Amino acid sequence: MKKVVFITGATSGFGRAAARKFASEGWALVITGRREDRLQALQAELVETVPVFYKTLDVRNQADVQQLVEGLPDPFNEVACLINNAGLALSPKPAQETELADWHTMIDTNITGLVNMTHALLPSLIKVGEGASIINVGSIAGQWPYPGSHVYGASKAFVQQFSYNLRCDLLGTGVRVTDLAPGIAETEFTLVRTGGDQQASDALYANTQALSAEDIANAMYYIATLPPHICINHMEVMPTRQAWSPFAIHRE
Ligand SMILES: NC(=O)c1ccc[n+]([C@@H]2O[C@H](COP(=O)([O-])OP(=O)(O)OC[C@H]3O[C@@H](n4cnc5c(N)ncnc54)[C@H](OP(=O)(O)O)[C@@H]3O)[C@@H](O)[C@H]2O)c1
Repeated sequence: MKKVVFITGATSGFGRAAARKFASEGWALVITGRREDRLQALQAELVETVPVFYKTLDVRNQADVQQLVEGLPDPFNEVACLINNAGLALSPKPAQETELADWHTMIDTNITGLVNMTHALLPSLIKVGEGASIINVGSIAGQWPYPGSHVYGASKAFVQQFSYNLRCDLLGTGVRVTDLAPGIAETEFTLVRTGGDQQASDALYANTQALSAEDIANAMYYIATLPPHICINHMEVMPTRQAWSPFAIHRE
């Protein structure tokens, strides 16, 4: 029987690349996101290779999450890997210039959405047991502060600690939990963060080599297919061309 991976945010970036990677390795897919046309296109692309179930889903809506998970048809209802990937950063501006609504959207998506999904799928993952995995997409922003990261980075710090705490409670079930923390990666992430500013997005990725969505999809696949006795708690992945900066000091 094919293993089933459930991917949130499969309409773009890491999630879409993960769908392609897992499909190429023979996994059945549950793909979700808010943009139906993209889900349809991805299903059409991959369904010749593996079974694909798609459904539009806003992870912030707990009732919809629950309904989708409870209604998953056979063979998609035995989820062996949950990739909690849906997420976003809004406003690259300083905290004091950011709309409160943007903070709430990040909290609702990156934290509430992720716990909605996890809670709904825990029974299935525990049923699969040995070798099952939850891959939570955190970020280097969860560990390292930088200007303009405010609630985004804080939400990813939640993802890291929640992942570690889940490990404690799932001990003995066989279910693994990983906080996968990428550095700069070229996806639609910056387009979303800047409110659709393509020039700003292009400028961020210009003349360097960011991670690609496929790099992170390969890391996801590696984590999910390790021998069942191995769990990667935290994986931080940066492009070689990214590193830290000195502390900032304000002088009069
Ligand atoms: N790119 C980076 O540099 C980077 C670095 C570290 C971590 N990350 C994290 O990686 C994850 C994926 O981001 P990406 O870089 O692949 O960006 P992306 O290309 O913008 O993809 C984000 C995905 O999240 C989905 N999404 C957003 N809000 C959602 C909601 N309320 N409900 C359901 N799906 C939602 C989007 O789908 P719809 O719009 O169709 O719903 C889209 O498929 C995010 O958690 C992000 O924080 C990114």
